[in-house]
Amino acid sequence: MKYICPSILSADFSRLGEEIRTVEEAGADMIHCDIMDGSFVPNISFGPKIISDVRKITSLPLDVHLMINNCDNLIPEFIKAGADLISVHYENNIHLERTVRNIKDAGKKAGVVINPATPVLVLEDIITEVDFVLLMSVNPGFGGQKFITNSYKKIGQLKKMISELNTDCRIEVDGGVSLNNITELCKAGVDMFVAGASVFGAADISKAVISMKEAISNC
Ligand code: DX5
Ligand code: ZN
Repeated sequence: MKYICPSILSADFSRLGEEIRTVEEAGADMIHCDIMDGSFVPNISFGPKIISDVRKITSLPLDVHLMINNCDNLIPEFIKAGADLISVHYENNIHLERTVRNIKDAGKKAGVVINPATPVLVLEDIITEVDFVLLMSVNPGFGGQKFITNSYKKIGQLKKMISELNTDCRIEVDGGVSLNNITELCKAGVDMFVAGASVFGAADISKAVISMKEAISNC
């Protein structure tokens, strides 16, 4: 199963409910929610309050990507707010195994994220514990950036690691995903596609989701 995960970072927050309903009706599979603290990444987005409000207006799983320091303190709040999947960065979580275990013990799907400059190799000892790996294909902090093509190499390395360890782990890619590269990413082995600007920045949001679903339907 392949999943289209529109990122609300690029939505019009004054019409958030409406835009989420539009992507849901068009066939989006999850809602990707980017949480930024202005410290781990150079931008601030939103917190658990938005997650709990979004939870009320959609039945889609909420895929919460934490780009915050000291995330252990806030993970229970995001779970209470309605997060279904929670991903945490390798780079700023020293006790990663414990953080991942806490998410899973709460009955949620856990993911680990690596930045473009972090090698796939560092995932070797955590990959068997997570439900998915999120490969950042831009440096985190902003929507609408250009896809870093080195990500294809990392997808290949990750696929190899997953098969060698015979583990059940999905691959999510986040940053610069659009109709121009989604089929190729799908063929490379990506399972979950985060798309912000290419969905919410499109003239026709619904058409953007439908076209993406189509583009990955036969990959
Ligand atoms: C970036 C975020 C992304 C962002 C992607 O730090 O993690 O989820 O919304 O946006 P696009 O698809 O516009 O690159
Ligand atoms: Zn994200």
